[in-house]
Amino acid sequence: MKAFVFLLVVIVISNCLAVDRNNFKTCEQSGFCKRLRNLTPNKHFHILNVDSLKVEGNVATAEVSSVNPEGDTKTLQHLYVFKLSALLDGTFRVELDEESPIYPRYRTQLALVAEPKADELKLIENKDNHVILQNSQGHKVTITADPLKIEFLDKAGNVAVILNEKSLLQVEPLKKKDVKVDGDENAVAVEEPEGTWGENFKSHHDSKPRGNEAVSLDVAFPDADHVYGIPEHTDKFNLRTTTSSDPYRLYNLDVFEFELDSTMALYGSIPVMYAHGPDRTVGVFWHNSAETWIDVENHSDGTVVSSLVNLVTGSSKPKRVDARFMSESGIVDVFVLMGDKPGDAFRQYTTLTGVAPLPPKFSLAYHQCRWNYVDEEDIRTLDENFDQYDIPVDVYWLDIEYTDRKKYFTWDLEKFRHPAEMVANLTAKSRKLVVIIDPHIKREAGYFLHEDATDNGYYVKNKDGNDYEGWCWPGSSSYLDFFNPAVSKYYADRYLFENFPGTSKDVHIWNDMNEPSVFNGPEVTMPKDCQHYKPPQDGLEGISAYWEHRHVHNEYGLWYIRATQDGLLARTDGRYRPFVLTRSTFAGTQRYAAVWTGDNMAEWGYLAVSVPMCLSLSVAGVSFCGSDVGGFFKYPEAELMTRWYQAGAYQAFFRAHSHIETKRREPWLYDAQTMGLIREAIRRRYALLDFWYTLFYEHTLDGMPVMRPLFQHFPQEKETYTIDNQYLLGDKLLVRPVVEQGVTSVQVYLPGRESGTIWYDVDSYQAIPANGFFTQNVNMAKIPVYQRGGTIVPRKERVRRASPLMAEDPYTLIVALDSQNTAQGSLYIDDGETYEYKQNKYIYAKVSYESSSLTYKIVNDQASYPTRSWVERVVIAGIKTAPKSAKMVQGDKQTALQMTLHKGNDVLVIRKPAASMGQSWQINFVY
Ligand code: NOJ
Repeated sequence: MKAFVFLLVVIVISNCLAVDRNNFKTCEQSGFCKRLRNLTPNKHFHILNVDSLKVEGNVATAEVSSVNPEGDTKTLQHLYVFKLSALLDGTFRVELDEESPIYPRYRTQLALVAEPKADELKLIENKDNHVILQNSQGHKVTITADPLKIEFLDKAGNVAVILNEKSLLQVEPLKKKDVKVDGDENAVAVEEPEGTWGENFKSHHDSKPRGNEAVSLDVAFPDADHVYGIPEHTDKFNLRTTTSSDPYRLYNLDVFEFELDSTMALYGSIPVMYAHGPDRTVGVFWHNSAETWIDVENHSDGTVVSSLVNLVTGSSKPKRVDARFMSESGIVDVFVLMGDKPGDAFRQYTTLTGVAPLPPKFSLAYHQCRWNYVDEEDIRTLDENFDQYDIPVDVYWLDIEYTDRKKYFTWDLEKFRHPAEMVANLTAKSRKLVVIIDPHIKREAGYFLHEDATDNGYYVKNKDGNDYEGWCWPGSSSYLDFFNPAVSKYYADRYLFENFPGTSKDVHIWNDMNEPSVFNGPEVTMPKDCQHYKPPQDGLEGISAYWEHRHVHNEYGLWYIRATQDGLLARTDGRYRPFVLTRSTFAGTQRYAAVWTGDNMAEWGYLAVSVPMCLSLSVAGVSFCGSDVGGFFKYPEAELMTRWYQAGAYQAFFRAHSHIETKRREPWLYDAQTMGLIREAIRRRYALLDFWYTLFYEHTLDGMPVMRPLFQHFPQEKETYTIDNQYLLGDKLLVRPVVEQGVTSVQVYLPGRESGTIWYDVDSYQAIPANGFFTQNVNMAKIPVYQRGGTIVPRKERVRRASPLMAEDPYTLIVALDSQNTAQGSLYIDDGETYEYKQNKYIYAKVSYESSSLTYKIVNDQASYPTRSWVERVVIAGIKTAPKSAKMVQGDKQTALQMTLHKGNDVLVIRKPAASMGQSWQINFVY
C-alpha cells in the first residue's frame, strides 16, 4: 500500500512538470531565516574588549560581548571569543564562537583541503576604540571595538570589505530547555521566540533538542559593482538584489522540476561569494555546512530604494553591494579573500578548499547516458551504432535499473548476466563504463549491505537513536553515516574488485541522490534532528554526543563522495585515476568529483542556464561541470538537440542524459542532417581534447577556473560584468553558444577594447574587425567560438572512435597573433589514466611565437614521457608579413619547411613540420 501511494505521488508529480514550491520552505517558513531577517540593523551591538586583545603568531584573539538591544544602557549579555588569523596569499579568517558554550558548536569538517597556512600578522595600533593589524602583503584590518566593526583594507588603504557594519552579527547562545539565561536557573525568564524548541513544516516536526543556535553576519563590499558565486541556483551569474524576494538559499535538496531564475535551493551549496568592480575583486567564504540563506542588496542595480532616490535627486548611483549570511547553526567562521584581481580571489578560494585533481583523460571526452540502457544487448547495440554512424564516444552509463532492485553493488543478473564480459568488450574498444551508486540502502533482509550496516550500527540514527528509515528508489531505505570513519572505510571497500564483481579499472562511478534525497522526508531530505557520529569524547553525552543532521546537512554528500574516491583509489592500489560524478556539492567537492546540474528540462531556457550555472560552480572551485545534454525531462526536437550538443561540446563535463519515460534520442534517431551536426559538435570536442586536458592540468597548478567569466581577464571592462551567456576557456577561447531558438544571428561581445585584443573566428581564422558587441550570423552548423590573439591552441584533426585511440596522433597548432605579432600556449601530455605523471612521466611544454621563431619548449625537468605524437601542421592566423622561408630545428636535425599563405594572405600554414612532441623544437623564420 505504502509503495502504491508513493508510486501514485511520483506519477502525479511527473505529469505536472513544474516545481512544487509547497514542498520547500520559504524564508518565512524557516524559523531562523525569518527570525534573523527581521532583526533591525544597528541595534544588536557587539563590543570587543580591546584590553583583552592578544596577538600571537598569525592570530589575534579578543573577548567580545553582545549587548542587550533593549533600553538605553548597554548591558553586556553574552561572552564570545573573537579570532582573526592572517593566512598566506592575502586571506584572513574571522571566527566567533561562544566563550563557554554549554555544548561544543559544530565546526564544518571537510571543506578545507588542509589547515590553512599562516601569514604574519602585525599589531600596528591599539588605542581609542580602534585596533589596526596588518599582514605581510600590506593588507590592513581595522577593528572598531564599540560597536564591533571589522574593515579590510587593500594595499592602497581603500576599504574593500566590511564585516558587521550594520551590526547584524549574531551567534545565538546555546541554551538548555527550561533553563532561562546562560545556565542560571534563578535568572529572570526571557521570552523565547516561537519555535525555539521545535518547528513544523507540512506534516513534519523538527524536534530541535538544542534550541535555536543560528549565526549571521552582514558583509559590505563598498566599491563593488556586482557579486557572484554562492552556487547552486538557476539565476544569472551576477547575483540579484533579494530585498523583495526570498534570499538565496543554500540547502542541498532534490528539487523535482526545478524552476529557472530562482533563488531557491538546489542540489548543491557552495558558500563563497565574490565582489567585483573596476578597482578590485574580493571574496568571502562562509565556512558553514548548515542550512544558509543569503541576502544581497546591490545599490547600483536600480532595484534598491536608495538608488531610486539618487536617481530622482540627480546624484550618481552609489556603488556598493551588501550581503548577509544567515545559517541555522555552527559558529561564525568566514574567510576574507583580498584578491585583488579576479584570478587572485579564485585562487585564494582554491588554496583553502583544494583544486580538482587531474582527471583521467577519457572523462573529458563524450559520455552517453540514459535512464536506462536496459540490458547488455542494449549496450551492445548502442556501441555498434556509435561506430556505424562514426560518432566518437568514450563512456556509456548505467543508471539505477542495472542493479538487482536498487541494491547497489549488485547487478540485475537477468538483464546483465555477464557484466565482466560486457565491460571487457568496451575496454577492448578503448571505451569505459560508469555505473550509478546511490547512498540510500535498501532495507531488505539478506542484502549484505543492509545487514552489515544494521549489525554494525552504521546507519544515520533518527532523533530517538534508532536507525533512520526513509523512502527512496528501493522503497524503505536507510542511509550510511559516513561521519563515522569505520563506515567510510567499509563503504570504500565495497568498491574493491572482489566486492563489486563485474567491475574493472574501466568502470567508474556516478554518485546521485546524495543531498541526501529522501522522498518522504521534510523538503525531500533527511530530518534535521537525525543523529550523526561524533568521535567519542569524555564528558560528552546525550545530545552533545552526536551531531544533528542540521549541522552537517550540506556536507553529507561530500563525505559520501570522499569514501567513493577512496574506494576507487584503493581498488587499483592508487595506480589509476578514478572518475566520480556527484549531484550534491559543497565547498571542496572539486577534490573528489565532477558535477552535473541535475534534472533539467528539454527547453531552451534550461540550455541557456547551463552556462551561468557552470560559471558559478567554476569560480566556486568546481571546474568539472556540465548539464544533461538534451535536457533530462521532455524531448528535445532537432534544433534544440543540435544546439545543446554544440553548447555541451564546450562545457567541461559533456554527457547526454534523459529520463526513463522520455523517447529515445541517441544522435542517429534524428534526421540525417541533425545527426551530422551532432557528430560534428562531438568531433570538435575530440579535436580540442588536448586543449581541455592541458587546462585541467594547469588548474591543478594554479587553481584557476577552466571555464571563466569574461571579467576575469578583462576586469576593467564593465560590459563584461553582466555577460553570462558567453565565457572563456582558459584565457584562450571565447565561447558564445547559441541558446536561442530559431535565430539566424546572435550578439557576441568581444572584450579587450583598451588592450586592442584581437579575436579570431575559429572556423575561418579571420580576425573580427572590432571589439565590443557584434552580430554573428549563425546557421545550424555555426558554433560561435573565437580564439584570442596572442594565444596558441593545440588540436588533433584525426578524430577517432574513442579518445585513447588518438593518444599518439599528431597535433595541429593554431597560432593566433596579437597586435605585437606574438602568441603563447602550452601543451600537457601523459598516459591519460595513471598517476605516473607524479613521477615526472609527462610532458609540459610552453609554445611561443615571436616574429622570427616558433618555439616548443618542454619545461618540466627530466620529463620522461615517451610520446610518439608529433606536430603535423602549424596554422598562423593574423600574419602581416609572410616569411620567405622556415626551418625546423630539433636536436641536431634541421629541415626546410613548406609554407602556404591562405585567405587574404594573412593565414600561414606550415605543412608537416614533423617534429616529435617528446623533445623541444623550434621553427626559425627568415623574412
Ligand atoms: C536523479 C538524477 O538526477 C537522474 O540523473 C537519474 O537519472 C535519476 N536520479 C535516476 O537515477
